[in-house]
Amino acid sequence: MTLTLLFIILIACHLESTGAKWTYNGPDGEHNWSNNYPFCGGAFQSPIDFQTQLLRYDPNLPPIQVQNYNLSTKEQLTLSNNGHSVQLYLPSHMYISSLPHRYSAAQLHFHWGSSNLLTGSEHTVNGKRFAGEMHVVHFNSDKYPNISMAVDKHDGLAVLGVFIEIGEFNPAFDKFFKYMNGIKYRDQKIQVPAFNIHALLPARLDEYYRYDGSLTTPPCYPSVLWTVFRRPVTISRKQFLALATALYASYAQESTTVPLHGNYRKPQIADNRVVLVSFKDGKKPKC
Ligand SMILES: *[C@@H]1O[C@H](CO)[C@@H](O)[C@H](O)[C@H]1NC(C)=O
Ligand SMILES: *[C@@H]1O[C@H](CO)[C@@H](O)[C@H](O)[C@H]1NC(C)=O
Ligand SMILES: *[C@@H]1O[C@H](CO)[C@@H](O)[C@H](O)[C@H]1NC(C)=O
Ligand SMILES: [Zn+2]
Repeated sequence: MTLTLLFIILIACHLESTGAKWTYNGPDGEHNWSNNYPFCGGAFQSPIDFQTQLLRYDPNLPPIQVQNYNLSTKEQLTLSNNGHSVQLYLPSHMYISSLPHRYSAAQLHFHWGSSNLLTGSEHTVNGKRFAGEMHVVHFNSDKYPNISMAVDKHDGLAVLGVFIEIGEFNPAFDKFFKYMNGIKYRDQKIQVPAFNIHALLPARLDEYYRYDGSLTTPPCYPSVLWTVFRRPVTISRKQFLALATALYASYAQESTTVPLHGNYRKPQIADNRVVLVSFKDGKKPKC
């Protein structure tokens, strides 16, 4: 009894420091996010469906260039289960150099489906949902000292989105997938050796979708310059199933375990937004 009470107090303190509870299903699901997080019901929300009629070819979009992504294996990175995703913290000496500001890396994380529904990407292409999606989150380090200061600013964040589909085994993803059993429960963290983060990106960094959007999770700040690569990367079915079944959204102390999967938000309205594309085929001609 006392332990249960202590646990409730711990959870309550935790919520106070991190904001109100939110989930992907049930009463705290995405339809209700805006009750506690008003931006989730506001403008410039993400993800969106990349429908052909929203796309505009922009010949001035340069290939994405990233710096210092090949991390030394001597460096250690924190891998965590935050109850909503698996997250790998990244050092801020990694950055994107091809945008008008320098955007330094903060973390990468994933969205995925479940073992019986393999589709769980957030962005979709003409309604097609991929198996999963990786987000490499960067903040504008020219203007802000850290991600906490940048997260709610209109020019605060730049996220690289990578579609994941089932196919060939991907050795780069295994560099941290293999530690997943060490973070089965919410708030668990472990240190893992760093590796070449560039190997997680698709081969073609010149073909992408670009638009102004938001965090896809509460508090849904409209602070993200999105770059979603056109070409997916592949992971094997076995790798996908490991991701989809290894983790829980619940704390180790809780008696009912809640599986962590299906952690993607539904497409949001595009409003008057256009999606710029760096590639020429498969879009409506500019007129
Ligand atoms: C939103 O929250 C209310 C109050 O908790 C609940 O009755 C309702 O079912 C929730 N909506 C959804 C779509 O879950
Ligand atoms: C990454 O760096 C390591 C040395 O730390 C080097 O051996 C390896 O070839 C580099 N990989 C790439 C793709 O540049
Ligand atoms: C971020 O920078 C602000 C302003 O310099 C500082 O007050 C805050 O403690 C920093 N936050 C973190 C998490 O480092
Ligand atoms: Zn994300």
